[in-house]
Amino acid sequence: MTITASASPPPETDVRPPGTLEIRNICKAFPNVQALDNVSLDIRPGEVLAFVGENGAGKSTLLKIINGDYQPDSGTLTLDGQQLSFSSPYAAHKAGIRVIYQEPEIVPGVDVAENIWIGELPQRGGFVDRRRLYEQVQKGLEEYGFADILPVHLMGDELSPAQRQLVEIMRALKEGVRVLALDEPTSSLTDEEVDRLFTLVRRLRDEGVAIIYVSHRIKEILELCDRVAVLRDGRLIAVRPASELDNNEIVRLMVGREISDIFQRRRNDTGREVLRVENLNSYWHSNVNFHINAGEVVGFAGLVGAGRSELAKVIFGEMPKISGRVIINGKEVDISHPEEAINNGIGFAPEDRKREGLVLIRSVLENASIAILKQLSRFTFVNQHRERSVVSGFIEKLQVRTPSVEQEVSKLSGGNQQKVVLARWLAAKPKVLILDEPTRGIDVGAKAEIYRLIDDLANEGLGIMFISSELPEILGLSDRIYVMQNGRITGELSAAEATEEAVLALAMADQLTATASRSEN
Ligand SMILES: Nc1ncnc2c1ncn2[C@@H]1O[C@H](COP(=O)(O)OP(=O)(O)OP(=O)(O)O)[C@@H](O)[C@H]1O
Ligand SMILES: [Mg+2]
Repeated sequence: MTITASASPPPETDVRPPGTLEIRNICKAFPNVQALDNVSLDIRPGEVLAFVGENGAGKSTLLKIINGDYQPDSGTLTLDGQQLSFSSPYAAHKAGIRVIYQEPEIVPGVDVAENIWIGELPQRGGFVDRRRLYEQVQKGLEEYGFADILPVHLMGDELSPAQRQLVEIMRALKEGVRVLALDEPTSSLTDEEVDRLFTLVRRLRDEGVAIIYVSHRIKEILELCDRVAVLRDGRLIAVRPASELDNNEIVRLMVGREISDIFQRRRNDTGREVLRVENLNSYWHSNVNFHINAGEVVGFAGLVGAGRSELAKVIFGEMPKISGRVIINGKEVDISHPEEAINNGIGFAPEDRKREGLVLIRSVLENASIAILKQLSRFTFVNQHRERSVVSGFIEKLQVRTPSVEQEVSKLSGGNQQKVVLARWLAAKPKVLILDEPTRGIDVGAKAEIYRLIDDLANEGLGIMFISSELPEILGLSDRIYVMQNGRITGELSAAEATEEAVLALAMADQLTATASRSEN
């Protein structure tokens, strides 16, 4: 018997299937922040790898390096033994690597097919071959089962967030993507859209694409991902198979400590009514009636599209109402502009922070103090010292990661931008505070902090209108809950009556009635 040298297999780390993206010793610093500190990691074909970490941990920065948006200070990326060096996203896409951001770039004035083929429309004798274009796009959409939700002729500016993401994914598929990364892809999708996205991700995984999935929703990560990579302060803390992890363990790895008592409710008795809405009708709403008392957190539950954000905007004077009364502190008001809402003591932190909440090129300090300038200024100039101390207090409370309050908001991580929007309204101390999805994109540690702040504010006598699509936080925090569907309030539940089943039954009241009447026929 002969023993050959090849009898013992090489160490496992040396066997990398083709299509593995090798990330080695990546460092990236911004002024005052080490965003990535020596990160090394393999992403294998046929797996979904999650990146998790607190706001500002470095997840998006790593994706931007993979996508060629940023150059690393040091370190390498290797695919199939070839060292990659991207000068632009275009170069990364050509190499089969693509990152899908939350807000994909869509050209408003052209349709879906042209958006998918942007930059390289099929030509024929110098003209765009439109027939071929639509045939190919239609074929691709049918193959992946999306022809029904992404009509090829729909224009770019008519697309929903889910459709925008699909366009970007189709761009990637058209180029034969091998490494696909998704940065918080589900935050503005309906449950059904999330299901379909997951089906697509699983299919691509099975076809051998290497997939990176970034999310703060641990439930989704456990459901979808094969391995989980945890980043903390720019360092890779752990990479584990998802099957060995549960919710608490992921949280512990992310924040480095246990988080207990996520929800606290220490409400005093509620006070007088601060907001009453009677028979409100608008383009989106029919006959909406509700009220909020001082010291109360009132949850607004419903499925995406039920009309909750629009209701907030109508009350805040950002969208018109057709009829109905809005009464604040016992006095009927006529609000047709946000400034009038603010003057009447209403604060509103909208869900879409980029478009509505923040002036990205201004500093954290300026953004957070926009709503309190009135209170801070004596005569006409702003008392800068007070401004800074009030804002800094909230920046600290919310653990906003920023080198200073002078930092430009566009340079903060997504979750930290959200916290600046909140800091602004918390600092303004309104009578009624409308919070629309205040914890979207926010990490677990900071979420607990925001829940505590909401509880504190209610204790101080604010009335809070709390819109959220996350049932656990609605149930955990609210004193009363209104459930909406199709622009109407379908029911009201006290904290004691509210269960997930009860809320969902009201949120889908129409469908249930429709099914019932169908089965009667
Ligand atoms: N262009 C930039 N200029 C300066 N600092 C930046 C820039 N981009 C990111 N940073 C900083 O780098 C750090 C990492 O940010 P990154 O966006 O990668 O975090 P993240 O993990 O994606 O967080 P989130 O969950 O909030 O999206 C943060 O401290 C952020 O403020
Ligand atoms: Mg991010």
